[in-house]
Amino acid sequence: MYKILLKQDLVPNIHLFKVAAPNVAKKAQPGQFVVIRIDEKGERIPLTIADWDEEEGSVTIVFMEVGTTTHRLALLEDGDFIANLVGPLGLPTHIDKFGTVVCVAGGFAVATIMPIARAMKKEGNRVISIMGARNRSLIFWEEELHRVSDQLIVTTDDGSYARKGMVTEPLKELLETGERVDRVIAIGPSIMMKFCAKTTQPFGVKTIVSLNPIMVDGTGMCGCCRVSVGDETKFTCVDGPDFDGHQVDWDLLFARQRIYIDEEKRSFEQWQSQHGILS
Ligand code: FAD
Ligand code: FES
Ligand code: MG
Repeated sequence: MYKILLKQDLVPNIHLFKVAAPNVAKKAQPGQFVVIRIDEKGERIPLTIADWDEEEGSVTIVFMEVGTTTHRLALLEDGDFIANLVGPLGLPTHIDKFGTVVCVAGGFAVATIMPIARAMKKEGNRVISIMGARNRSLIFWEEELHRVSDQLIVTTDDGSYARKGMVTEPLKELLETGERVDRVIAIGPSIMMKFCAKTTQPFGVKTIVSLNPIMVDGTGMCGCCRVSVGDETKFTCVDGPDFDGHQVDWDLLFARQRIYIDEEKRSFEQWQSQHGILS
């Protein structure tokens, strides 16, 4: 059993848990994830390791409520337990001295890009971060991301805070200035990562995305997380989650992410009715 040491509600539907998991904290690296199961009847879901503290023996996860499991998870509090937490899984993000690295994060991925931006900065890169959210109420960790970046650009889709628009707009402008950008790391909703990759492609800037297909075991055995990258089939959990965004077959990823959409909807409606929540 894994104890929740700390719960923070970052914005209304995005929560942070610090969980006691000393063996995971000992080995975690930027870009890796864990697979958790709330209890013995629960499904397994992957969540990125947003931070870890080897001394305290804890790992931090940040998750957005989207369906049954993440809503159930959000009901847990400090002192509660999660049945399983397996990790660290996946290949770590390639950290090196590239020169100028642009880190682009959408939604909850502000938390998941943080260890990557921090490690890139520590390696001696100039780090420019771009973070985007739908509106002001969904902005969190602006200060924290700023601290590990040389420059930070914030966007909101509706213009309720900072610059109005999508993260791809400042990204494109940056590339158009002719300033040297050696690598872009884009993490967030798949559609955002696709358009970041499309934005950088004409400029020939290597763009790494962190793919988020449906996963079950997270160890390369079920094949559920298969994606096509550069016409090769890859298992995201063991070959990724980081891949070259210019090589990803995005349509296949979108289609596979929606395979169980009817079952997920039914499961959520059932959960809501059991809890007396009206949809
Ligand atoms: P459901 O209603 O069951 O599903 C909603 C949508 O989530 C589905 O349509 C599907 O596209 C996706 N999904 C459902 N089940 C899974 C599954 N087993 N594996 C992956 N995707 C699924 N989310 C966060 O909020 N924070 C993170 O740090 C984070 N990191 C991730 C890292 C990786 C490597 C991957 C693959 C996904 C990550 N996700 C993260 C997405 C998260 O796993 C899904 O949002 C979650 O599984 C949804 O579960 P649900 O039951 O609440 O929603
Ligand atoms: Fe099963 Fe990747 S999640 S092979
Ligand atoms: Mg689910």
